[in-house]
Amino acid sequence: MKRIEHIGIAVRDIESSNKLFAKILGTKSYKSEVVDAQGVVTSFFKIGESKIELIASLNKESVISKYLEKNKEGMHHIAFYVDDVNAEIKRLKKEGIRVINETLSRGADNKMICFLHPKDTNGVLIELCQEAE
Ligand code: CO
Repeated sequence: MKRIEHIGIAVRDIESSNKLFAKILGTKSYKSEVVDAQGVVTSFFKIGESKIELIASLNKESVISKYLEKNKEGMHHIAFYVDDVNAEIKRLKKEGIRVINETLSRGADNKMICFLHPKDTNGVLIELCQEAE
């Protein structure tokens, strides 16, 4: 894995959270993007080399909606940038780490992504991402 690409934070209200994080980070969100496939809206902040991704639900069926039924707002996942997600999936499966979606899905920010199973990662939801073609 190359680096931490972003940290994902689940929020209930993207507008008020945008304002809050602009205040905290001292910089405005540079992009907002709807990811239809996931039923979410995202908002990105750039801090040096690192990004913060705010994620809010657009419907009751989205993973973020389900997450917020059981959890409070806050840290949701850590995303690692890799050159080749499929190669990493192969490597991690050999290590006994389960992957939630082996068929990559389209994430925000022009990325192809997958998630590792938190039961196999000390409870941390880990996203792997690479630039989409
Ligand atoms: Co993410």
